[in-house]
Amino acid sequence: MLHPDLDILCVLPKLWQGYFVDAFRERLAPARFLTPEDVADPARITYAFVLAPPPGYLAGFPNLKAIMPVGAGVEHVLADPDLPDVPIVRMVQPDMAQRMSEYIVQHALNHMRRFRQIREAQARAEWNLFAAPTAPDTTVGILGLGTLGQHAGACLAALGFKVRGWSRTPKQVPGMESFAGREGLQAFLSECDILVSLLPLTPETQDLIDRDLLCALRPGASLINASRGGVVKDDDLIACLDDGIIGEATLDAFDIEPLPADHPYWSHPRVTVTPHCASAATAEAVSDRIRQVIETVERGEAPTPVVDRKTGY
Ligand code: NAP
Ligand code: GLV
Repeated sequence: MLHPDLDILCVLPKLWQGYFVDAFRERLAPARFLTPEDVADPARITYAFVLAPPPGYLAGFPNLKAIMPVGAGVEHVLADPDLPDVPIVRMVQPDMAQRMSEYIVQHALNHMRRFRQIREAQARAEWNLFAAPTAPDTTVGILGLGTLGQHAGACLAALGFKVRGWSRTPKQVPGMESFAGREGLQAFLSECDILVSLLPLTPETQDLIDRDLLCALRPGASLINASRGGVVKDDDLIACLDDGIIGEATLDAFDIEPLPADHPYWSHPRVTVTPHCASAATAEAVSDRIRQVIETVERGEAPTPVVDRKTGY
């Protein structure tokens, strides 16, 4: 049970506040969960659970022991130049990896089995057959071999896909070929039929998926971006889709969210837009993680894993 004297700050968009805060109050009482409007004494706050706090806001809480971002991506938190010097504890929980892998497998299978073409034919009431390869004939390349990339890779490999991954530092992951660093990127890309992005958004990965990168894939390859919109150079992707260099794209995350109604992705015939739903954290799973982190810190131990402020993830 968490201590009744704990005051935990929740800085969330209004839309999410009720969902998370109600669950926390129910599951983690007697600790207190405060929204910014509820805070009377900032000195009493020792933990902060946040999505994108306004720059400088957390600096007003002198006794913070840890910051817990809502999701796996932390670019909104690190954007604050005055962030207090306390651990930023990563939101890792099995539920998130399971959901993400389901999303990646679903869309990889849709791409491989020509599901978009089948739906288009249905709209024309056409009984067409579309030749499709099987998983062992299909190479899926995963950009980002972290918690989510490795889990998705294992699920794809279990279905028979040839899986390869790319990371910043070299890795050995059973069941997949691994490539690392800029020097390994071209070789990694050259055999991909389906490219998946599970990279964090950092200065290094911003706009990484540009025309040059897309042209290095197998002709007509497809893209699944379930990470952040900023990793993809949108104009380049649209041009590559129009030129047939890329066969289709499934996109879950965008530079501006919600995706503006007039954005060309909405109406592009070879783009599937999903509303950043690949792997939403559930309040139950997040509550369990919050409890675990706070108990660790209160025992005087270091919570893990934490964000490395130098690499940005
Ligand atoms: P993670 O465990 O931190 O893994 C990140 C991976 O990316 C690591 O393998 C890392 O390499 C690699 N990487 C980082 N910078 C790189 C670079 N410059 N070059 C090559 N590789 C690089 O992150 P995660 O938990 O798997 O999550 C990944 C991202 O998914 C999150 O940051 C978030 O943006 C996104 N996400 C999206 C949703 C959604 O619903 N759409 C849900 C959850 C997460 P090393 O292994 O060498 O460090
Ligand atoms: C969701 O996008 C997350 O970063 O967890």
